[in-house]
Amino acid sequence: MTTPPGAPVPPVKLTADPVAGRLSGSNGRYEKHLADLNGIYRDAAAYDRLLAADDGAPVYWVEASETEDGPGGLITGISVLEPGRVGDEFFMTRGHLHARADRSEVYTCLAGQGVMLLETVDGRSEAIEMSVGDTVYVPGHWVHRSVNVGSTRFVTMFIYPADAGQDYGLIHDAGGMKNLVVSSGDGWTTRANTDHEGYRA
Ligand SMILES: [Fe+2]
Repeated sequence: MTTPPGAPVPPVKLTADPVAGRLSGSNGRYEKHLADLNGIYRDAAAYDRLLAADDGAPVYWVEASETEDGPGGLITGISVLEPGRVGDEFFMTRGHLHARADRSEVYTCLAGQGVMLLETVDGRSEAIEMSVGDTVYVPGHWVHRSVNVGSTRFVTMFIYPADAGQDYGLIHDAGGMKNLVVSSGDGWTTRANTDHEGYRA
């Protein structure tokens, strides 16, 4: 059955299983494997060593529900990030700025310990720790990336406008984000990424 333009679509119920990393009721999924993440970590030798021993399991995946694609629609889903490190950098998502840069996003932690790393193109940077029950509101115009700083899966539920889109090239073209989330021995800290050349305007 097709729905006439402008007519209400049926409501959707989603059920997250943070342990399994699944979102039942969702209608889309993608996975990122270590081999897909070449260039996002600064320590290329550590990346190559890890890739040589890679078992092919995804580093992270997203399961999402896309129901309405108009300007009022929202995309809801979960992001599941395995624990691990490449050199001293923790496993992380590629990160992006929304293609429509003023679009915001909400993330709520369902499992694990993570950091939301946020930067503006004019040089502001924030690293916000998240554990179960924490929600971070990512305003428009902030580049954002999830980082797993714990020893178990870091699972978040996200909600963002369906017309936001993602610009993944911005971080790549800048030589990575301005700051890195790295191990401090028994925890995490940030340090400057010396490869970062500034974001294009
Ligand atoms: Fe986003």
